[in-house]
Order: sequence, then C-alpha cells, then structure tokens
Amino acid sequence: MAMSHRIAVLPGDGIGTEVTREAVALLELVASRRGLSLDLWHLDLGADRYLRDGTTLPPAVFEEIRDTCDAVLLGALGDPRVPSNDHARDILFGFRFGLDLYANVRPVRCLHDRLSPLKHHGAASVDFIVFRENTEGVYVNVGGQVRRGTPDEIAINEDINTRKGVERIIRAAFEHARAHGCKRVHMADKSNAMKHAHELWLRVFREVSKEYADVEAVHVYVDALCLYMVQDPSAIEVIVTNNLFGDIVTDLGAALQGGLGMAGSANLHPGRKCAVFEPVHGSAPPLAGKDLANPFAAALTVGMLFTHLGQHDIETLIEHAVRDCIASMECTKDVGGALGTRAAAEALRARVATRLG
Ligand code: NAD
Ligand code: IPM
Ligand code: MN
Repeated sequence: MAMSHRIAVLPGDGIGTEVTREAVALLELVASRRGLSLDLWHLDLGADRYLRDGTTLPPAVFEEIRDTCDAVLLGALGDPRVPSNDHARDILFGFRFGLDLYANVRPVRCLHDRLSPLKHHGAASVDFIVFRENTEGVYVNVGGQVRRGTPDEIAINEDINTRKGVERIIRAAFEHARAHGCKRVHMADKSNAMKHAHELWLRVFREVSKEYADVEAVHVYVDALCLYMVQDPSAIEVIVTNNLFGDIVTDLGAALQGGLGMAGSANLHPGRKCAVFEPVHGSAPPLAGKDLANPFAAALTVGMLFTHLGQHDIETLIEHAVRDCIASMECTKDVGGALGTRAAAEALRARVATRLG
C-alpha cells in the first residue's frame, strides 16, 4: 500500500477558511492523480472555537500533530471579535515556536508583467526568496507593561537574538543559494542603530559567508533593502533577516507579486518531518464571506507543501498553472480578473489537471 501523508488542516478565520477549502481541494486533486494517499485531519480551531469555549491549541492536539503529521495546512488567523488576537498568537506561535520551525521561507516571484507595480520592471525582475527567522526576535513573548494606563506607563518587548538562532537561519539561506545556483545572499539588519543584537547578525553573517565562497554575501540595512526592492528587485536573489523585518519585507515583496493574494509561505525546520504551510496574507476581515479572496496564494503554498512531501515537480506545476490563469484573466479582482474565490480556484484546478495529464 502507498505511504499515507497525514496533514492537519486548520482553516483559520475570515478568508482563511475560504482559501483553505480550495487549497484542500487542490491537495486532493493532485494526490488522487499522483496516487498519493492523504490522511487529512480537519481541526476545529480558530476564532469561532475560541469564542465558543476558550480553546486555542490544546497541548494534546499539538503533540499529536508533532508526532504524527507530515504537515499542517493553516489558513490565516485573526478575527475582529477577538481584539486581543490571543487565539491567533497561541496557534500560530504554538506551531512556529513549538515545532521550532526556524525558517519562514517566502518566495517572491511575480508571475505576470501585469502584476508588477513597478514602472521600469516587469515580472522577470521579481524573483527572489526571503528566509525569515521565525522563532526569535521581538516575537518571543519577553517583556511586560508597568504602570499600565498611567502617564508613567512603560511597555517593553525584548528583542531576543541567540547565536544559534541567527547562525542557523543564515546557514539555511546560504544552503538554499548554493543548492539553487543563486549568486548572492542579502542579509538585512539595523546594526547601525541596534548595536548589540544586530552586531551579532552582522558578525555571524560575515563568519558563515566565508564557508560559502561561491556565493556573494551582501550586507544591507533593512531600510535601504526596502529601497532596493522597489528600485531594482532584479539584483536580489536571497534575503535573510530577522523575524520582524522578515514579516515586513515579505508584505512589501507581496506587493511586487501583485498583492498578498499571490504570496505563498512555508514554516520549516530543515530536515524535520512536520512543517506548517500558510499563505503570507491574513484573514482580511473586509473580504470575508464575499467570495472575493484570491485563492492563488494558498494554492502556491500547497505547492510548497508538496515539495516538503517529496513531490518536487508539483510546486512548479502549480506555479505554471497559476501563471496560465493570470495570463488568461481567470482570476479574482485583486489581480485583474472578474472571478470569485471558488471560480478562480476551480479554473486553477482545471489547469493543474491538464498539466498533470
Ligand atoms: P491582511 O493580509 O488580512 O490584508 C491586507 C490587505 O491585503 C487587505 O487589503 C486585504 O484585502 C488584502 N488581501 C489579503 N489577502 C488577500 C487575498 N487572498 N486576496 C485578495 N486580497 C487579499 O492583513 P491585515 O488586514 O493587516 O490583517 C487582518 C487580520 O489577519 C489580522 O487579525 C492579522 O493579525 C491577521 N493576519 C494573520 C496572518 C496569519 O495567520 N498567517 C497573517 C497576516 C495577518
Ligand atoms: C505573518 C503574520 C503574523 C506575523 C501575525 C499574524 C502575527 O503577519 O505570518 O506574516 O507577524 O508573523
Ligand atoms: Mn505578516
């Protein structure tokens, strides 16, 4: 009997549920055509569940996922009914930190000239990948508030950077560059201002880069990186940066791809079994329930999931099918089409089916 891949599915909130439904249909289509057996575990976790009974990510569920699943497919989390965002942090960081998924890998590839917002650069200029540190930085819940609500209030979020954490994400970026024939890696920090934490990044980057003499190591301050990303993205191939800067530059990167509806993402611990796949975008409350969300970011994310399962050609196949749909205007409004979420996802599945043969 063929080996079965166990995948936990958390549809999330808002448009997360709409695009994840379509992503699951795509997963199932590819699996059935390829003779892969999938064991999908649908979990009722997200804002609705939290509002119902306070549950976020129960330890027993987390442990079972960690011990038995090959992947988690996650829709975006975030709901206006939960202003604290507590459930989203519990679930999202529960996976990222709990599974030690230190590499948040976010490809930035523009799939059609029409989608590039730049006057002087078309799709061919936008093709890079961001390695975002995913377990440290200001995202670690170290800090607190003192004298809250008074004029003397103090609010602190500490920025945690460990030698081990910085080194492993920098190495992952160089390993990717070497494996994919990339000529250079950009490391973005703010070491001119953040003299302690980011001096560590700069020093480790310089040290590690010596082991990759075939790859050019370019240090940039993150503010300048944002400038270069817009002025001439063609010079960029691989970016490595910390958790917060990685979050920000990947939304900027999404703008170069035609918007957040086009940006896929994977949370990985290279070499480990269980990884988490979620598009870059959030739950977009204003779009929720209106069949307006672009399902392609989630579809490209499914492509990354198949690479993780060892089906390396599927990621490219899905990407080509998305290109087909964009080129023929079979897509949602945000990328110039007139289709709803379901219809765009259906069109994409038809293209994928054709390409699968
Ligand atoms: P967002 O990504 O939801 O939306 C930003 C903009 O992009 C909006 O204009 C939205 O309409 C558009 N957009 C996003 N996804 C789209 C899609 N698939 N198709 C078409 N347009 C799309 O970011 P936000 O508004 O800052 O956040 C909304 C909520 O989502 C918040 O609660 C936030 O915390 C959460 N969030 C969750 C994740 C995650 O779980 N991975 C990621 C980002 C934001
Ligand atoms: C992302 C999101 C999350 C992050 C939020 C929802 C905490 O913006 O995955 O990009 O900042 O990591
Ligand atoms: Mn983000």
